[in-house]
Amino acid sequence: MQIGSIKFPDKPLFLAPMEDVTDPAFRLLCKRYGADMLYTEFVSSEALIRNVNRTTQKLTIYPEERPIGIQIYGHDPDSMVEAAKIAAEAEPDLIDINFGCPVKKIAGKGAGAGLLKDIPRMLEITANVVKAVDLPVTVKTRLGWDEESKIIVDLAEQLQDCGIAALTLHGRTRSQMYKGEADWMLIGEVKNNPRMHIPIIGNGDVTTAERAKECFEKYGVDGVMIGRGTIGRPWFFAEVKHYFQTGELIDALDFYQQKEVLKEHIISSIRWLDIDENTEIESVQNQRLKGIIHSRRHLAATPVFIGIPNFKETRIKMLRAETLNELFEIIDGVEAPQSII
Ligand SMILES: Cc1cc2nc3c(=O)[nH]c(=O)nc-3n(C[C@H](O)[C@H](O)[C@H](O)COP(=O)(O)O)c2cc1C
Repeated sequence: MQIGSIKFPDKPLFLAPMEDVTDPAFRLLCKRYGADMLYTEFVSSEALIRNVNRTTQKLTIYPEERPIGIQIYGHDPDSMVEAAKIAAEAEPDLIDINFGCPVKKIAGKGAGAGLLKDIPRMLEITANVVKAVDLPVTVKTRLGWDEESKIIVDLAEQLQDCGIAALTLHGRTRSQMYKGEADWMLIGEVKNNPRMHIPIIGNGDVTTAERAKECFEKYGVDGVMIGRGTIGRPWFFAEVKHYFQTGELIDALDFYQQKEVLKEHIISSIRWLDIDENTEIESVQNQRLKGIIHSRRHLAATPVFIGIPNFKETRIKMLRAETLNELFEIIDGVEAPQSII
């Protein structure tokens, strides 16, 4: 499978773009464990044009991350073109356009999934961005606005006609937000439409290695994108890859190794959000840090502590810890559940 000139291995796994999650600290861990394609968090076209600091920081990419795409969103075709040009200067491997974000403050303003209600504008943005940059341009969207307008089979053809290099489909409508089940049948229908020739990446609810394999085999997609299933579990990619190769379900890391990866992630989040490369981590270990708050989502979602007896209280403490010292003491103190010793 190939997107533009980016070549992928067989059955490639894509890390889904996730706001507040897929920063370089997390992306690099996912890459280490086998993610074949990474994306930045989505970047607002308007904020990019206004040169908002927090937004331009999202364009930072490291050579080890390649291939990587920068994802942009917005409502105005001219701003999207402008933003795509700015993003291209950061030299990603591709530019991805977000037509899938369902949240009110975005979709309600006619950006993200909001464009599923204004297809002419969606196509105008897509065609103009494709023309504006020398990089491959891809789109990530949903099946339609709601149950009554699952337009994706026709829409995919129209987007392809705009010159995009690949299409990622999250198998839900905007109305579903994140509820219900992703409809992979319809993703398969897009993939198996004989008029489609660009790669189709399927996305939604892949949380086990078996399901990832089934998505490739049953629906024929060219790539599988995984989002929530990786939060607090970047090694999931290694488990899926191992299953593809051997048919064997394994824990890629043991309990203690998993805890070390969580700790490593917390430290890199602090490095990313709080300190520069010359600052020793020890010098901030008793401070309140953004990186700690940021890590809570991963600590809350991680499967590492599942099955630990009487963990509830420790979990509450872990998710409230404010300093690195405090947090690491809690994590270090958790012993493996009997079943896996
Ligand atoms: C916390 C969070 C943030 C997200 N941010 C983005 C984003 O910035 N851009 C995007 O295209 N999708 C975003 N998504 C949607 C995911 O990329 C993905 O499509 C969705 O979670 C379904 O895949 P999953 O079931 O594997 O999680 C986000 C999802 C979550 C849970």
